[in-house]
Amino acid sequence: MKTTISVIKADTGSIGGHNRPSDAMVTKAKDRVAEALKTGLLSDARVTFTGDDIALLMIHGKGTDHPDIHKFAWDTFVETTKIAKSQGLYGAGQDLLKDAFSGNVRGMGPGSAEMEIEERTAEPFVVFAGDKCGPGVFNYPLFAGFADPYHNAGLLLAPEMHTGFTFTIMDVNHTEHDKVITLRVPEDYYDICTLLRDPNRYIIEKVVENATGLIASVASTSRLHNIAGKYVGKDDPVAIVRTQKQFPSTGEILSPWALAHYTLGDNRGSHHVAVMPVKQNSIISFFDGPTVMSAAGYCVHEGKLTEAVDYFDQPFWDYIREKATKKTLMIREQGFFNPAMGPQDEMEYTGVMENLKRLDAKFVARK
Ligand code: F6R
Ligand code: MG
Ligand code: MG
Repeated sequence: MKTTISVIKADTGSIGGHNRPSDAMVTKAKDRVAEALKTGLLSDARVTFTGDDIALLMIHGKGTDHPDIHKFAWDTFVETTKIAKSQGLYGAGQDLLKDAFSGNVRGMGPGSAEMEIEERTAEPFVVFAGDKCGPGVFNYPLFAGFADPYHNAGLLLAPEMHTGFTFTIMDVNHTEHDKVITLRVPEDYYDICTLLRDPNRYIIEKVVENATGLIASVASTSRLHNIAGKYVGKDDPVAIVRTQKQFPSTGEILSPWALAHYTLGDNRGSHHVAVMPVKQNSIISFFDGPTVMSAAGYCVHEGKLTEAVDYFDQPFWDYIREKATKKTLMIREQGFFNPAMGPQDEMEYTGVMENLKRLDAKFVARK
């Protein structure tokens, strides 16, 4: 049976800063989802939030990029924006960067990740949702989870995985149209590393298994500043990863998150910070951060979802949260001095450029 898994998320306003949507907003999204289940648009769905972003996990049979699904998500975010405005919440409609919907949420602000699959007898998958970070946050954990035997022991122990995976990587600085490259591990290992080392520019969009040709993972690639031309909030990406059997085990996919790797995000989207794995529906706090990532596991069967397994709600991750806190505090001690604050090309969408321009005019050339 062909099933589509669509995850579309947006920040449409939050309580007291950029920290979480209100209960009324989440209820509105849930009500709309309940309607869509009744009309048969969706076969199942879940509404969650991570920091200030509401994520819609939608199961249906319409394939990826379907205008009905994207319109449903867009209209839902228009409705949650109305609630945010009526409650006087902060940043109402922040991620809705265009006035009129034009068929697909891509390029309009919301982040999306979708895959159409032939359901396996048992179809476990994980939905990752991040806040206060860019889509490059997935470069390290997806690469390590799929291609590095330090994490994916199945590359050595499970014959199906021994031939590796193919990565589609997008150059997100190229804005006229999508510019992608397709590279395979193990053959192109070092070339992939060469690109992924710059997670602000080269971003994993898709992972496919070499042996089976099956899609294993998709991630959102939108960069809000590329759409808006200026800093309007962080991208806050989502990813879907299929696990088990011919794919990495769920534990192998979660394993790289124990690094609490540094990423660009946090306060004003402009600081390096350690990613903190958090429970679903977690809020934002310290320094408009830290950057958080939630991971929810489901099985989908004949278009219906199980309840979620909240993977980072487990004692192991308490220690990793503490480690992330320590790593974040360490780099925070350095304040605005690079690399605590982000690199220059990432600052080009922020107000720092006006200050630099003003100062540049005062520089004198010493002959
Ligand atoms: C980062 C974020 C916040 C805001 C900051 C300033 O993604 O959401 O750090 O950038 O709170 O927000 P404004 O400009 O809305 O006051
Ligand atoms: Mg926001
Ligand atoms: Mg956000």
